[in-house]
Amino acid sequence: MTHPHLPDGGALVDAQVNARAWNNIAAHATGTSPEASEVPQDIAWTAWPGRGPGAGFLGELAGRRVAELGCGTGEHTACAAAHGARLAVGVDVAEARLEQARARFGRLPALLWKAGDAAEVLASLPCLDVCFSIYGALWYSDPARLLPVIANRLVPGGILAFTVNAPRDGETPGRRVDNLTLPTGARLPVVHYTYGANTWHHLLAEAGLTMEAAVAVDDPRGRGYRALVLRARRPTRS
Ligand SMILES: C[S@@+](CC[C@H](N)C(=O)[O-])C[C@H]1O[C@@H](n2cnc3c(N)ncnc32)[C@H](O)[C@@H]1O
Repeated sequence: MTHPHLPDGGALVDAQVNARAWNNIAAHATGTSPEASEVPQDIAWTAWPGRGPGAGFLGELAGRRVAELGCGTGEHTACAAAHGARLAVGVDVAEARLEQARARFGRLPALLWKAGDAAEVLASLPCLDVCFSIYGALWYSDPARLLPVIANRLVPGGILAFTVNAPRDGETPGRRVDNLTLPTGARLPVVHYTYGANTWHHLLAEAGLTMEAAVAVDDPRGRGYRALVLRARRPTRS
């Protein structure tokens, strides 16, 4: 899928815009302790506690090589390590978020933190059994660029699972720019890519991945948001 309105280097622009926003969020974070933190026992796939599948959605993690794309302050990467991953790599485009992740979970074995745009960092990683992302790089960067890189890093039979939002009623799917609001009231642009489950099915297939589960979770506050928690697999034979 191409975006004719984006100049060459659009992906780089997206990553820079989003890194700026999330580095600023990190600088103003009040709720996230920069100190050692408890590892969550389960993966929270949506922003609504108790809604969505748990860590089982990723299949067996013990002994696996896992990467989280857009790991933020690292709790889910740490959770994957606590479930026995041989290697759990947290990737984030915002260095300041990774500094917080290191401070919170750096004491744990099997963890590695990598700063940069997910598509670029992935190319430097070893082959992976599992990739996941929770409102991370699959939400903030162009899937037409990122999915083929993920497919190329996954071993045959490897899993990609991720959460994004579906387009809201009346919203045009595709690239959009929103604003994050800092505690100071300042607004910073972020770039999203929003598609429905059918389009994700096609995007994944174009990248050589087979979608095998799509869980839709509606916002319990009734604000019209719908999270999509998707799982795809690299076929064992291609
Ligand atoms: C909404 S936060 C989600 C953090 C984490 N997944 C969680 O569940 O708490 C989105 C994160 O994605 C990161 N991000 C955005 N674009 C990215 C990209 N192209 N590559 C890697 N990380 C990215 C941001 O810096 C931010 O930390």
